[in-house]
Amino acid sequence: MKEEIEKIKKVALEEIEKATNAKELEDARVKYLGKKGELTAVLRGMGALSAEERPIIGSLVNTVKTELEQKIDQKEKEYEIAELNRKLKEETIDITLPSTKITRGSKHPLNRIIEEVEDLFVSMGYDVVSGPELETDEYCFERLNLPKGHPARDMQDSFYITSEYLLRTQTSAVQARTMMANEGKTPIRVICPGKTYRRDDDATHSHQFSQVEGLVIDKNISLADLKGTLEVFVRKMLGENLELRFRPSYFPFTEPSYEVDVSCFKCGGKGCNLCKQTGWIEVLGSGIVHPNVLKMNGYDPEKYSGFAFGTGLDRLAMFKYGITDIRLLYQNDVRFLNQFDRCDR
Ligand code: DAH
Repeated sequence: MKEEIEKIKKVALEEIEKATNAKELEDARVKYLGKKGELTAVLRGMGALSAEERPIIGSLVNTVKTELEQKIDQKEKEYEIAELNRKLKEETIDITLPSTKITRGSKHPLNRIIEEVEDLFVSMGYDVVSGPELETDEYCFERLNLPKGHPARDMQDSFYITSEYLLRTQTSAVQARTMMANEGKTPIRVICPGKTYRRDDDATHSHQFSQVEGLVIDKNISLADLKGTLEVFVRKMLGENLELRFRPSYFPFTEPSYEVDVSCFKCGGKGCNLCKQTGWIEVLGSGIVHPNVLKMNGYDPEKYSGFAFGTGLDRLAMFKYGITDIRLLYQNDVRFLNQFDRCDR
């Protein structure tokens, strides 16, 4: 019996040693140590042994069992370690490899300007409003004192969609919309930045451009309020020490009307190519809201007055960033746009 056990042990150890994977190891465990295994069978047959032999054989079987179990455990550990090493080798991450570049977008120069203008006017108590880009003749012109056939319509080459609808040529259209929406209530203090369209195309004019409109209506609004507001606006956007010049002009929706020039921020007013040797650069249209416009849009000109102004945001962006062709702002060329990512840092 002893020899038989030793033989089982020998064969079993060989088999465990030979096992090359977890499955073979498990098969060996079942074959020798399982319920129907060879060692278990020996234990079962112990009833036939003499009283002296029994404990000797019993303890031998147990020793062999433990030995086999240990051997199996040890083999299992070896597999685990080998598997871990294999994984570590296969799944190594080379941290010295150059990483994939994460490209960060940047704000469009026009959006930068719009946000700056909005921040400034919001800080002065204005609301930011918007209006449709596909506008009616009524709001774009008629309600701004430009009835059909008015010669001043010729100043704006328009894209008409039908005889009543056009792409708005000026954000001034929002003045009338705001007044109508406020139904005679005051104060009105709004700016409206947005896209505008005219049949233009050269280095300083694009068929699509951007304007910001300003409108204030209340009791006792005067030219002094307009001047003070525009001084803050222009100096904040273009330079604190700049001078402003109010030049009488004509706009159908304001009376009196002014074009506002700023002393050239490039040459300081001495004269250069930017200001065409005049020392001044035109930046804004403005004026005191025409009584007809107040009346047409629900405000009594005897009681209320207001000022309005409008300026091209593209021009402001071009001045501020030294852009020489307005069309660059609308071509979505990343080589151009990428240059502005530095402004965020
Ligand atoms: N809408 C005018 C334009 O596009 C600019 C302008 C002038 C706006 C005078 C105004 C204003 O609000 O009062 O040329």
